[in-house]
Amino acid sequence: MSTVSSSIRDYHAASWDEGVIYELGAPGRRGVVPPQSWAPQSGDSLFPQSLRRERDADLPELAEYEVRRHFTHLSQQTMGMMGISLFGTCTMKHNPTVNEQITARSEVAAVHPRQDPSTYQGLLGIVHSLEDELRNLSGMDAFSFQPGGGADAAYLHAVVTRAYHASRGELAQRTHIVTTAQAHPCNPATAKAAGFEVITLPIEEDGYPSVEALKAAIGPNTAALMLNNPDDMGIYNPHIKEFIDAVHEVGGLAFYDNANFNGVMTRLRARDLGFDACMYMLHKTFGVPKGGNGPSVGAYGCSDELAPFLPGPRIVKNGDVYDLIEPEHSVGRVREFLGNVQQLVKAYSWTRAMGTDGLREASDLSLLANNYMEKHLMALKGVTMSFPGKALPRMEMTRYSLEEYTAETGLSTVDVQNRMTDFGIDAYWLAHEPWIVPEPFTPEAGEMWSKEDLDEWIAVLAHVLEEGRRDPELVRTAPHNQVVAQIDGSGLDNPDTWAVTWAAYRRKHGNG
Ligand SMILES: Cc1ncc(COP(=O)(O)O)c(C=O)c1O
Repeated sequence: MSTVSSSIRDYHAASWDEGVIYELGAPGRRGVVPPQSWAPQSGDSLFPQSLRRERDADLPELAEYEVRRHFTHLSQQTMGMMGISLFGTCTMKHNPTVNEQITARSEVAAVHPRQDPSTYQGLLGIVHSLEDELRNLSGMDAFSFQPGGGADAAYLHAVVTRAYHASRGELAQRTHIVTTAQAHPCNPATAKAAGFEVITLPIEEDGYPSVEALKAAIGPNTAALMLNNPDDMGIYNPHIKEFIDAVHEVGGLAFYDNANFNGVMTRLRARDLGFDACMYMLHKTFGVPKGGNGPSVGAYGCSDELAPFLPGPRIVKNGDVYDLIEPEHSVGRVREFLGNVQQLVKAYSWTRAMGTDGLREASDLSLLANNYMEKHLMALKGVTMSFPGKALPRMEMTRYSLEEYTAETGLSTVDVQNRMTDFGIDAYWLAHEPWIVPEPFTPEAGEMWSKEDLDEWIAVLAHVLEEGRRDPELVRTAPHNQVVAQIDGSGLDNPDTWAVTWAAYRRKHGNG
């Protein structure tokens, strides 16, 4: 048993049994009465006829207090960061309130991307300075903040790779991108989406692919290597430079998916290792709110050689003035304008508040916290770790397995994950598909959570494992203390039943 001392808290989620907002309120109720439109109502409208509504929008009608009450209830029903969230491979962090306040200021929130750059020099200066910070951290020469997430940045690399080889007249020959069985699925997926064939290197006994396997896979048809290091099991490949050198020797590019940057911040730089391009997830590592493709930022950095292919606009500084330019051989936009500029301001504020020393301390703390977790988790009966024979310690996370526990109790890692939420613990991360470690789980302690939080997390896992031995049904049918019990996913593959808007829901369920 673990020696942690934390006691387990009594927890139950608030449950309000409330409809969706469209089902609340009553016709004619108002929170805000907007001013009359200044635009002509008929005749010479700014909008062409084809874009004008024929009937009013079907919007809910509520008083302000009802709206506030509804969304407060929803927030109470969601655990969010109010539980302990050690969601691995994502580096869950506190999002400082001050950064929200800064980005709500009109100098950020009210700027329109089509304004003349001379009217928002301060904001451009912040984004340009963030680029300087990331150039220092990575050693890269240029950054694009346009991608709306990590996977988006991987896609940008795949299309930059295409443009780079095309510019050298080698695209027809460079048909393959090499990745590993432990790379995040966005690497092979985006390579394929950009038209490349994918070669996936297997993981060897020591937890990473071998240089020999790489050398056998590359040649004149290699366009690029795309991988992360440390990987999502927390394993750092010590032969990474040999990998990059071998790919360069055959004329390919090397892309560093730096999603797991937290474990190596300020300790190593992508460019110093030899990578041609890299990506950071500002929405995870840099204290910006988490959110997959869309509200987030996959910061894509590259060498001078690849910079002409970046999406525009890019910010350049001429004397004291910031200007926007289109790179000479740009691959085009991967999303609009400068991307999610508010998130860039938050990342800049976080990076400056941390400073280089703070980033290093955070990185070291995240390793210490993971090693602390590992010592206690490995003392739990039924828990094993991936590639246990590997000599080097794990970095900022460790991938564990409940395979033995499943054999003993019949309970899966998902059952255990569900039951832990009954104690106010946010569901842990399992592993990206396909699982190469059976019944996996991957907590990531990070630098932010206190020792008491980590102890509580470990104590809850130990408690749930014991509970499952005594009463497997209790764990199998969990969660019991959450608003939503197990979700029935059987309709998710049926377009006739699922709906992502209220209008579609009513239409598909015979009410529209
Ligand atoms: C190693 C790695 N690369 C890429 C991604 C994709 O990032 P995003 O979710 O921002 O698209 C993730 C997400 O967890 C990841 O762990």
